[in-house]
Amino acid sequence: MSESLAHKDGSERLNEAAQFIESRTRVDKRATAVVLGSGLGNFAEKIITHITLDAAEIPNFPRPSVAGHHGKLIFGNIGGSPVILIKGRVHLYEGRTIDDIVFYVRLLNALGVKTLVLTNAAGGVNPSFNAGDLCLITDHLNLMNVRLHMAIAAGKKTFYDDQLCQLIKKTALKNAIGLHEGVYAGVLGPSYETRAEVQLLRRLGADAVGMSTVIEATAAHSLGMRVAAISLITNKAAGLADEKLSHEDVQLVAEASKEKFAALMCAIVQAL
Ligand code: HPA
Repeated sequence: MSESLAHKDGSERLNEAAQFIESRTRVDKRATAVVLGSGLGNFAEKIITHITLDAAEIPNFPRPSVAGHHGKLIFGNIGGSPVILIKGRVHLYEGRTIDDIVFYVRLLNALGVKTLVLTNAAGGVNPSFNAGDLCLITDHLNLMNVRLHMAIAAGKKTFYDDQLCQLIKKTALKNAIGLHEGVYAGVLGPSYETRAEVQLLRRLGADAVGMSTVIEATAAHSLGMRVAAISLITNKAAGLADEKLSHEDVQLVAEASKEKFAALMCAIVQAL
């Protein structure tokens, strides 16, 4: 599979979606857009909501089909800092296209939003990572079996914005919230890795593994947005712990860690 992520301006589909949103609310271009990973939706409760739009009512917006993902866009603020929350992303393993996956990224860009914080649930590949830990993604391995025709912008080391990462690290420290740093391996899924694959990922330099983020981060960076990404480690990756992995367990750990996660995200939005 091979698709360009380069179109800056919208197709007809994108324009229809953007126009619909603009007809419903005045979008604050300074807003931080936050994409919520599996089971991390309760952060939405911390937001003073101005308006919530259902994915289903936004023209052409791809609707999620996995348990724990509800398609919504929430416009509001936290302590006066504007935020746009995207709940319910779609994944390649659902049989979606790259265009579907990056639709909301292009939409945010079309609306003039410049800052995107991606969040996800991930398995810990680094043996020192435990379920419930948070990890700032500093770089990624694209192992999703897709070719993305995008290079890292001149003068940058990774797709992830250095200044934004520094600010997130400082914010975590100030609020006494533990935050690892590491490399995220994006895999296609939907099955979890074998023990041998996890050993391979570790040798490749991965600290965490998940099934999202890579494509969206690449697209956002290529559109000139500032991107950061944070993983909630929901489990030790296969072979590093005794339990068998399941989507339900991932959601349970996300549930148990939701307050810590929400506290960090609130602090980040207010620091930006
Ligand atoms: N592997 C891949 N994706 C994941 C995992 C994992 O162990 N945990 C949560 N998402």
